[in-house]
Amino acid sequence: METKNPTTLPAWQELRDLAEEFHLDLRQAFETDPGRAAALSFEAADLRVDMSKNLVTEPVVAKLLELAEQTGVSEWREAMFGGKHINNTEDRAVLHSALRAPADAAGSLVVDGQDVVRDVHEVLTRIYAFAESVRDGSWKGITGKRIETVVNIGIGGSDLGPAMAYEALRPYVQPGLECRFVSNIDPTDVGEKTKDLDPETTLFIVASKTFTTLETLTNARAARAWLLAGLQRAGAIDGSKDAAAGAVGQHFVAVSTALDKVAAFGINPKNAFGFWNWVGGRYSVDSAVGTALAVAIGRSGFEDFLAGFHALDEHFRTAPATENVPLLMGLLNVWYVNFLGAHTHAVLPYSQYLHRFPAYLQQLTMESNGKRVRRDGTAVDYHTGEVFWGEPGTNGQHAFYQLMHQGTRIVPADFIAFAKPTWDLVDTESGVRQHELFLGNFFAQTRALAFGKTAAEVRAEGTAEDLVAHRTFPGNRPSTSIMAAQLTPRVLGELIALYEMITFVQGVIWGIDSFDQWGVELGKAMAIDLKPAIAGSVAALAATDPSTRGLLQYFFDRK
Ligand code: F6P
Repeated sequence: METKNPTTLPAWQELRDLAEEFHLDLRQAFETDPGRAAALSFEAADLRVDMSKNLVTEPVVAKLLELAEQTGVSEWREAMFGGKHINNTEDRAVLHSALRAPADAAGSLVVDGQDVVRDVHEVLTRIYAFAESVRDGSWKGITGKRIETVVNIGIGGSDLGPAMAYEALRPYVQPGLECRFVSNIDPTDVGEKTKDLDPETTLFIVASKTFTTLETLTNARAARAWLLAGLQRAGAIDGSKDAAAGAVGQHFVAVSTALDKVAAFGINPKNAFGFWNWVGGRYSVDSAVGTALAVAIGRSGFEDFLAGFHALDEHFRTAPATENVPLLMGLLNVWYVNFLGAHTHAVLPYSQYLHRFPAYLQQLTMESNGKRVRRDGTAVDYHTGEVFWGEPGTNGQHAFYQLMHQGTRIVPADFIAFAKPTWDLVDTESGVRQHELFLGNFFAQTRALAFGKTAAEVRAEGTAEDLVAHRTFPGNRPSTSIMAAQLTPRVLGELIALYEMITFVQGVIWGIDSFDQWGVELGKAMAIDLKPAIAGSVAALAATDPSTRGLLQYFFDRK
């Protein structure tokens, strides 16, 4: 399929014209069109999405939809779901959607000779059996004790997804089981996460798509050393190689596409769960990379999680363009980035359980769409991926919302909230349910952003004239509100898939390959190249630049 420079398309040029004169007063827009909220509110699976507080008019939305047509979003979508090699720089299919296809879809998708859905379900069956054995205590450590702590060792997509989802779904975690996540090569991470654990009841999952990632393999070796030393100290094993192999066999499993490398590490291939090169790391939480989560929430929880992804996929595939939530949200993002000058996008979950969701989305969106050349290698002359960031409400309100309300920048924001609380506490002073106090903030913030407070309203409150400007809120700050009844495994799957598909839409419009990540390679290679200099080689030190030499000298003088 053809890669287009979107700026040459008629819809782009017309959007540019619309943007030049664009002025929308949201108060007025709601006053003059009482149907605005209904017209711009949509359902996607279990999600209710209200886009009406965005800076768009009917003509803008219509033009954005034309842009989607002219860039071929629906053709690219079919190509992705159909297993075409749309990750062209790595010549790979992009099939995270197949990870959540129901078992009865087996045989419907054969890609590069592989019955993708059948293979997915074969691995899922093994993961569920493993998860069940840990949960029911039949999987024993080397001394016969049941596992109490599962430590996932991975980084990037092999960490952020399961770590975020574990935090999000804590109420669904089996009592007596805990998961921890080690990612950073900073020895602090593995040190702190293991310091109070009992090796006899600890199981490590080494998760790495490539099984070559320096951080993960270094941490896996540290964990193995910690395990063996602890077991020896306890007199559970002797120092022999056989004893070590036996202990590793009972306390380490792996998740990878490189099963040969897993075996070389000493992990029994029967305790390895595979996936495939058509699953990008940042799109892998619903593959074997989610094994820690499957252990934590069990088979039925994980099945619900996958069903949520699938429901959203189906919405994206089948909903008409004018009601297609990921399509519309992706187009809104393009409108803000390329026509209204936004540089960032905030994601603000009003749910403490989703506190790692913005971090998860940072990899998903920024590793995908932080690209400066199109698929064909030609340079873009427009902005691509915006910076995604965020914190849970209400914490963010007391930190960075000031800039969102009264700063000079446009910060489109997604607000996420759930009707039902998990902790249904009642405030002892007011007698009000604490969740209602919480959601009051969710509802209030998007109103305040959109409608602001005029100088006349500020004056009418008797504010001193020299403070009126300071206390005025301009409004017209865009937001989308996403609600669901409750944060369940299914709803979490829907939310993740929603952002996966938004990311896809933006990537197609920009004509880039959202599924490679060459930009992470240079720094990795340089870190390896710098090893001799850090170890003190004078020649290697001399070969660096003056700034790096100065920093290394500072390190040598103080280490
Ligand atoms: O460095 C980036 C990256 O390749 C990510 O795309 C990936 O999720 C992460 O590293 C971890 O890779 P792996 O799962 O192969 O260890």
